[in-house]
Amino acid sequence: MFAYTMLDDAARSALTALLDVSFGPDRHSKIAYRFRDDVPEDERFGMAAWDGDLLVGAIQYWPCHVDGVDAQLLGPLAVAPAYRGRGAARGLVNRSLQLVEDAGTDLVVLIGDPKLYLQYGFTPASGQSLVIEGEPDHRVQMKPLTDAGREATGLVSPALATVS
Ligand SMILES: CC(C)(COP(=O)(O)OP(=O)(O)OC[C@H]1O[C@@H](n2cnc3c(N)ncnc32)[C@H](O)[C@@H]1OP(=O)(O)O)[C@@H](O)C(=O)NCCC(=O)NCCS
Repeated sequence: MFAYTMLDDAARSALTALLDVSFGPDRHSKIAYRFRDDVPEDERFGMAAWDGDLLVGAIQYWPCHVDGVDAQLLGPLAVAPAYRGRGAARGLVNRSLQLVEDAGTDLVVLIGDPKLYLQYGFTPASGQSLVIEGEPDHRVQMKPLTDAGREATGLVSPALATVS
């Protein structure tokens, strides 16, 4: 019922309002934004869900590093309140994860509720001793996509933080 596109200029013009209503205007204080502030979004994977010309949902990814492997931090993922419970998030997550996998990414990491992400193959990152500084273990989820991703362990760091 929804149409899905890459996160294009039309989607970006409505994105801030969607994120404000979904996470609040103070969302930049969240730990996830340490991975996003000053780091360019990976535009290969961001997607939008539409009802006609109305943006109803969006997902974005930021590059990050764990133990030398190429990883992506999934999120934010947001669906407009009036459209929740109709499969938009599932459409966004499944489609974008396929792009991430096709690009050869080793590992996807996120900060969020394990109950929401189990259905997409995410498991608690504590099982692989992956850590995001400042986040409780149960909030950090991972989905390895390659053997290197399955073996990665340790601290998840923002992409630019590891560039010397
Ligand atoms: C979480 C959110 C993205 C879900 O969007 P949605 O379009 O309503 O989700 P869908 O309709 O695609 O649901 C897909 C499945 O996830 C489940 N689900 C949805 N929200 C859930 C939640 N918060 N916790 C656990 N499961 C959830 C649904 O029950 C559904 O499973 P089912 O088909 O077996 O019933 C949306 O509620 C939202 O934007 N919330 C505010 C922002 C937020 O919390 N984002 C996630 C940050 S980690």
